[in-house]
Amino acid sequence: MINKPINESTTRLIHGGQLNEIAELYSIPLKKWLDLSTGISPISYPIPNIPENIWQQLPQTSDGLIEAAKRYYCTENINATSGSQAVIARLPNLYLNYTNKSPSQIDVWLPEVGYKEHERSWCDAGFNIKHYNDLPSCEDLTLYSIVVVINPNNPTGELHQQRTLTDLLKKIEALSGWLVVDEAFMDVIQPNQSIIHLTENKHLFVLRSVGKFFGLAGIRIGFLSANQYWLEKLKAMASPWEVNGPAQFITEQALNNHQWQSRQQQTLITLSTQLEELLTTTFLKPFNKGEGIKISISGCGLFKTLIHPQATELFQSFCRQGLYVRLCDENNALRFGIPNPKQYKILAKLLAQHCHS
Ligand SMILES: Cc1ncc(COP(=O)(O)O)c(C=O)c1O
Repeated sequence: MINKPINESTTRLIHGGQLNEIAELYSIPLKKWLDLSTGISPISYPIPNIPENIWQQLPQTSDGLIEAAKRYYCTENINATSGSQAVIARLPNLYLNYTNKSPSQIDVWLPEVGYKEHERSWCDAGFNIKHYNDLPSCEDLTLYSIVVVINPNNPTGELHQQRTLTDLLKKIEALSGWLVVDEAFMDVIQPNQSIIHLTENKHLFVLRSVGKFFGLAGIRIGFLSANQYWLEKLKAMASPWEVNGPAQFITEQALNNHQWQSRQQQTLITLSTQLEELLTTTFLKPFNKGEGIKISISGCGLFKTLIHPQATELFQSFCRQGLYVRLCDENNALRFGIPNPKQYKILAKLLAQHCHS
């Protein structure tokens, strides 16, 4: 499954996690695969007993959940959504519904490399797409510019400091634009570089995901932090039962459980460091004295990304071994999800076999 540029495939993007299709493609039964294709923690928040009435009743937004989210994310301006993906899909319409501007006149700046659902959303709505490698400068930005920052970036792991984004917000506010910061992977960053505490500002939107750090991508819950004006408008665009009751119940407990959160932090640091060391030994050390071969490793506590000139060949060869990682959109890198200790042993064995083949 090789990635296509966005304009060749506006219907569906590949993000990892499509093991069924890969297993069929390589004719290897599902249970024989080691699936490290996502950036979701391999250790998830334990599912508590859920009272029967939560399953039976239509979900209403739980005050307890919002209070827990305010404390965990350190903001008063927050709403639950069915995954941060739901916000990514709705932001362009939110903009168009409540401003009287034509999308083709508005520049939307997106990272050249990064989670492509942002681009798809703004592009499909007719906005003027621009790409950046380094954040756009004052000279780049025009009136009403919208800048999307994924912090830390998926898959590069690049992290912008709080200070840098605070300065960018000032510039954008002066141009009556929007700054959209996707902090889906921020929970593992120490010290925290979130700018969620600034969302009283009407020009700032911060997205948070529960799926990654808490390892609960399947329950489909995330958060948007923005000025109350925008939160109300977005609520009006959402479905009446936006987030299911069990997801709200579990997430309230997860957000309140500080002991579990700090254990999770420690575990992810340990496991991601081990993964980085394994990738270094396998792919970087053999080339230490090499002749300018451009291989590098980046990432964060939820994934590690190997930039490699033979990424596509490696991806295919790994698939033949039953190892599924994420071939990045540019076909120049492989993103490895963090393996749990059992998965780590299998990965180490597969990589050793790979080196000797
Ligand atoms: C950078 C980024 N943002 C947002 C999402 C959406 O996550 P969710 O809808 O599970 O919160 C993803 C999913 O992979 C992602 O990688």
